[in-house]
Amino acid sequence: MRVDVRTLGHQFPDRPWLFRDLDLVLVPGHVYALTGPSGSGKSTLLALLAGWLAPQEGTVERHEISDISWVFQNPHGTPRRTALDHVALPFLARGAPVHEAEQDGLSLLVRFGLADVAHQQFRRLSGGEGQRLMLARAIAARPQLLLVDEPTAQLDLSTAREVNDAITRLASPQTIIVIATHDPETRDSCTDHVDLAHHQPAFLPGTRAR
Ligand SMILES: Nc1ncnc2c1ncn2[C@@H]1O[C@H](COP(=O)(O)OP(=O)(O)O)[C@@H](O)[C@H]1O
Ligand SMILES: [Mg+2]
Repeated sequence: MRVDVRTLGHQFPDRPWLFRDLDLVLVPGHVYALTGPSGSGKSTLLALLAGWLAPQEGTVERHEISDISWVFQNPHGTPRRTALDHVALPFLARGAPVHEAEQDGLSLLVRFGLADVAHQQFRRLSGGEGQRLMLARAIAARPQLLLVDEPTAQLDLSTAREVNDAITRLASPQTIIVIATHDPETRDSCTDHVDLAHHQPAFLPGTRAR
């Protein structure tokens, strides 16, 4: 399972290059922080990694990746379903019996600091709890590739910190995780760092991702 990015560059029609000459190898077990100023192309790169967008230059190859999940900056849950329902569902969908799905769901809630709100409806959760639940649900779904776009953008500082703590617990041997962020604490919660600022045309030629 791997994503190979080679000499990737992208520009929208009649716009300057967002980034060029990007080389990356993304593998499971890591949590990659994708940083750069607003407008530098972080969300665009996520879309390129997912294959939603075709690159103008270079290639993105996804090896042994069939399921891709996204977590967006606003948590999208089912208002009257409990936190536990949200994380148990992916296990049920894979055919686990209810009892087992709830056990596995509950251990994920514990890992993300949500055990106390397991039986609360989604609409009663705070912003930080909702966002941590989205991360827990994404892990429960076991995608090979998980893309997270600005998970703390809508949160105040202390709530963002809760989410960043959860991010340090995200790494998984079965999932490649990429998080676009301009929050330095989110970046520091990740295991690897890709800075798009180093791939903007002004910096070229010379710099390449390692
Ligand atoms: N579909 C599109 N067509 C034209 N321009 C776009 C499109 N999507 C994004 N852009 C532009 O590309 C730039 C990078 O956007 P984006 O990837 O969202 O940056 P970031 O996520 O780093 O803030 C922005 O200037 C944005 O306006
Ligand atoms: Mg963005």
